[in-house]
Amino acid sequence: MSKFNFDKETTREGTYSIQYEGTEPLFGRTGLAPFWIADMDIETPEAITEAMKKRLDNGIFGYTIWKNSKFYGPVKQWWKSRYDVDLTDDMITYAPSVLYTVSEAVRLHSDKGDGVILNMPTYNAFLKVLKGNDRKVVPCSLIEEDNEYAFDFEHFEELCRAPENKVFVHCNPHNPTGKVWSREDLQKMKDICLRNDVFFISDEIHMDFVRPKEKFVSMAELMDEGDPIIVTTGLGKTFNLASIPHSYFITKNKELRNKIVYEYDHRYNVGTANSLVLAAIDAAYTDCGEWVDELNDHLEGNFDYIEEYINEHLSEYLSFKKPESTYLAWISFEKCGIEDAEMHKALVDLGGIAVSPGHIYDIADNGRFRMNVASSRMRIESGMERIHKTIEKLKEDGRI
Ligand SMILES: Cc1ncc(COP(=O)(O)O)c(C=O)c1O
Repeated sequence: MSKFNFDKETTREGTYSIQYEGTEPLFGRTGLAPFWIADMDIETPEAITEAMKKRLDNGIFGYTIWKNSKFYGPVKQWWKSRYDVDLTDDMITYAPSVLYTVSEAVRLHSDKGDGVILNMPTYNAFLKVLKGNDRKVVPCSLIEEDNEYAFDFEHFEELCRAPENKVFVHCNPHNPTGKVWSREDLQKMKDICLRNDVFFISDEIHMDFVRPKEKFVSMAELMDEGDPIIVTTGLGKTFNLASIPHSYFITKNKELRNKIVYEYDHRYNVGTANSLVLAAIDAAYTDCGEWVDELNDHLEGNFDYIEEYINEHLSEYLSFKKPESTYLAWISFEKCGIEDAEMHKALVDLGGIAVSPGHIYDIADNGRFRMNVASSRMRIESGMERIHKTIEKLKEDGRI
């Protein structure tokens, strides 16, 4: 019997949420059911909101120090209890956001015009910030077979050998495919990077979402003293805190840590902590492990529902493999034999659903869309009906 109700109806009315209020400007239509940006239609656990309220009651939100036991302690305890990783205070550094750290680490380890290796498909904001920092995106496509993704080590090593490629930005677990990388895979990636003097950035923001049979392994576990490796993560996804900006990174490379801290203190003057998030981190990492476990069970149920729905009604047109992690369903419509742009338009115009088109995560069309399943089952059911309706209408019109 679940202690928490993940099917509770929620509202974002009046909150200026991108998921709802940002849908019409982006998709060009009203009345769409949104399943695109990666935040949840699930309330943050009460233990966290209560801790934030308590902090609010103090009424003073002046500049705040993150170097304290109420930050380090809960982070170390979470990593030990959930991933059996022993962290020490000096390995953990607070930073304004995950992508802030990715960009800063890229800037510190490459120059304008240098190559940064990214797997394809990739989290789309990596593409954005590399462009914004005048770095060259160097694609290393994952090998896909029947919706299973694998790392192309041969191609990767070839790319790492090129002296102009200076950094690898890895995503583990992987957005959008949900792939959880094995220890062996991670060790191989690390060895190749070290052999070729390529800096390794591991974005692990989706780490807490794992299907029951999967085990997340962090790059933090494979780090040795001084390694040119940084892990960046936060609580934004796990506890639905995306609008309360924060993150932290883990490294055993003192020089790198000092440089990033220097940059954010001296270049941007953003070296103080968000006071509300410190309260949230303490409550989340101390009291909300059970909530995360039950949330994962709920997500597993949503993925099962989608899998069964597709098998029962849409298997001629769609294919889907349950992701090993994340709350993102990566659904293939390759069987439809339709252009990507036509399908994405049909989902909006005929189905009334806003999902993320696969090509935004790639350098080419890939016959897929990404659907956020972090909602009540009822919302997922209505989303699947909209997808079904899209396919039926395309069939009726002889377009598939
Ligand atoms: C892989 C990945 N990294 C980072 C982020 C965002 O992190 P932040 O807002 O802290 O930059 C997301 C959000 O979707 C993500 O999927």
